[in-house]
Amino acid sequence: MTIDRPAIEVRGLQKSFKELTVLRGVDLDVAHGSIVALLGSNGAGKTTMIRILSTLLRPDAGTVVVNGFDVVARPGDVRESISLTGQFAAVDEVLTGRENLILVARLRHLTGAGPIADRLLARFSLTEAGARRVATYSGGMRRRLDIAMSLIGDPPIIFLDEPTTGLDPEGRLEVWAAVKQLAEGGTTVLLTTQYLDEAEQLADRIAILHQGRIIVNGTLTELKQLLPPAEIEYVEKQPTLEDVFLTLVGARTEGEDAR
Ligand SMILES: Nc1ncnc2c1ncn2[C@@H]1O[C@H](COP(=O)(O)OP(=O)(O)OP(=O)(O)O)[C@@H](O)[C@H]1O
Ligand SMILES: [Mg+2]
Repeated sequence: MTIDRPAIEVRGLQKSFKELTVLRGVDLDVAHGSIVALLGSNGAGKTTMIRILSTLLRPDAGTVVVNGFDVVARPGDVRESISLTGQFAAVDEVLTGRENLILVARLRHLTGAGPIADRLLARFSLTEAGARRVATYSGGMRRRLDIAMSLIGDPPIIFLDEPTTGLDPEGRLEVWAAVKQLAEGGTTVLLTTQYLDEAEQLADRIAILHQGRIIVNGTLTELKQLLPPAEIEYVEKQPTLEDVFLTLVGARTEGEDAR
């Protein structure tokens, strides 16, 4: 591992699928211990990029160096340096949360799989749920377990592909807290998201992937400076669906109370 280089260095990365060009020359650095959000619309190429960085897919051109290792020349070393939590949760529904963790620890030939599982359950607030089958977990719990599983073996770099897609607001907050904890512990995190608020909440730097290139890359403050200063406008306030919902539900409850 080399500390003086960024944890991830991408230069001139290109990738096409037959005649469809997805990445047209992507440049990106991710500093050690930072959280970088890769933002882009559906089909922008986020998953493609994560798959190349995690050695699942070969680049057509350009260089990608992860933890000091070139993904094409040293894929084994790259794999030992990273973990990947895919866009869809990879947990086994039939097993309990604890059993899932133990399974992964054993697959990685670690000793003390039980204590490792218990520590991770505690870290992700899953101790009580640990003995339950994953089939009974909420989306947020599943995601947290998925992230916990990817931390077994303490990889210095983790890739999270859309960690909160499909979660309710509470589940998203839970996952955000887990990701922040990771970075506080020194792990480098590259995550993809379609949610601007997720990038705002979590990332030290935000990179926007658009039409095959990183079109901006900076801190939230830097990105906001790209727009002209906010103007104050008079806007008639329409009720939101949430206002309507809360008003109706509130009214119903009051009525019931009166009975
Ligand atoms: N193996 C493949 N073969 C052919 N086309 C592919 C393949 N993988 C991805 N693509 C195409 O490449 C483009 C980028 O896909 P990718 O999955 O990287 O986007 P994404 O930014 O992750 O999108 P989403 O936000 O929907 O997850 C899409 O048009 C997709 O259809
Ligand atoms: Mg994707």
